[in-house]
Amino acid sequence: MLVTHINRQVVLRSRPVGAPTADNFAIDIAPIRELNPGEFMVRNLFVSLDPGIRQRLSQVDSYVKLIELGQPLTSTTLGEVVVSRDPGIAPGEHIVGFHTVSDFSIARRGPLTRKVDLAMTPSPSNHLSVLGMTGLTAYFGLLDIGRPKSGDTVLVSAAAGAVGSIVAQIAKLKGCRVVGIAGGVEKCARLIAEFGVDAVIDYQRKDLGSLTAAIQEAAPQGVDVFFDNVGGIQLDAALACMNNGGRIALCGLIGQYNLVGPPPPITNLFKVIAKSVRIEGFVVLSYAERFGEAIENLVRWVREGKVTFREQIEEGIEQAIPAFLQLFDGRNHGKMMLRMSNA
Ligand SMILES: NC(=O)c1ccc[n+]([C@@H]2O[C@H](COP(=O)([O-])OP(=O)(O)OC[C@H]3O[C@@H](n4cnc5c(N)ncnc54)[C@H](OP(=O)(O)O)[C@@H]3O)[C@@H](O)[C@H]2O)c1
Repeated sequence: MLVTHINRQVVLRSRPVGAPTADNFAIDIAPIRELNPGEFMVRNLFVSLDPGIRQRLSQVDSYVKLIELGQPLTSTTLGEVVVSRDPGIAPGEHIVGFHTVSDFSIARRGPLTRKVDLAMTPSPSNHLSVLGMTGLTAYFGLLDIGRPKSGDTVLVSAAAGAVGSIVAQIAKLKGCRVVGIAGGVEKCARLIAEFGVDAVIDYQRKDLGSLTAAIQEAAPQGVDVFFDNVGGIQLDAALACMNNGGRIALCGLIGQYNLVGPPPPITNLFKVIAKSVRIEGFVVLSYAERFGEAIENLVRWVREGKVTFREQIEEGIEQAIPAFLQLFDGRNHGKMMLRMSNA
């Protein structure tokens, strides 16, 4: 074996009940085994930390396999190939794929595997943020599911976050009026100054009634497209404000991932019938064959200054869990990632 380094990995020690805590995880040393035919090994440079990992820690519905106890977390990483027994992948190439959260990952090609050219972006990390799952989720969720038309009002929840901030900007460049919902004064101010939205709502300390009133005030013509990252009362309040023929792109339900009991009831479901609203969930992975098209457009929009993005990069595998936990109390300011000590 060509690699003699120590391979640290983040493993699941116990299943969280409610909000995850640091005790649910551990950093182990993993052996590095020989590769089987068709496999390659990457030295991970950057690791994406996503709210969706939470779904795979417990016995709940998810579209990706549950992480077993004692096993490493998995996520999208950017790594450099160090050894390969896949004839199509050579040492020295840079690969984005679904890999273990560890110094080194052994993998086979999957739907998310793609080679990346590091010269294409100012930072390699950009391949995990605006050009990674984050940008791709915003692109397909808004354009394919939300189908915004010029002049539409687009409402976005977790709008100052990684996916939400890109959704808001794509909606702006499609000629829409954009209303962003976020937690706190700082994020709301950023939505206007940095991401160019037209109106903001700070959801903190709001109940269903006051949130509904705030949406009505911020979107006096009603909502044509709601891009939802949160669920719960944000979804319920948005339903009350939808226009005839409105579209809801259900991207995530981060407000519910840590709930122990059942989620709050949706009281405005009748609006879906009364206003002929289409609610459609989606999984970005199902667009894998069209990632090239999205990346081409996202690169162009970034170069033209039409889309800007934030990354929060924490240093080293030791920060994996503290960084992941920030996603659930809103302390993150941008796409949460780890820079590995290898990078
Ligand atoms: N469907 C797909 O294929 C797909 C793919 C990727 C991501 N997603 C989903 O997209 C959503 C956003 O992910 P992201 O990576 O862009 O994360 P992010 O928005 O950068 O970070 C998560 C944000 O969610 C908000 N939040 C956390 N807990 C909350 C709660 N209990 N109630 C309300 N808001 C809460 C916080 O923002 P505030 O400070 O503003 O509250 C936090 O900063 C997630 O729901 C994720 O699961 C879906």
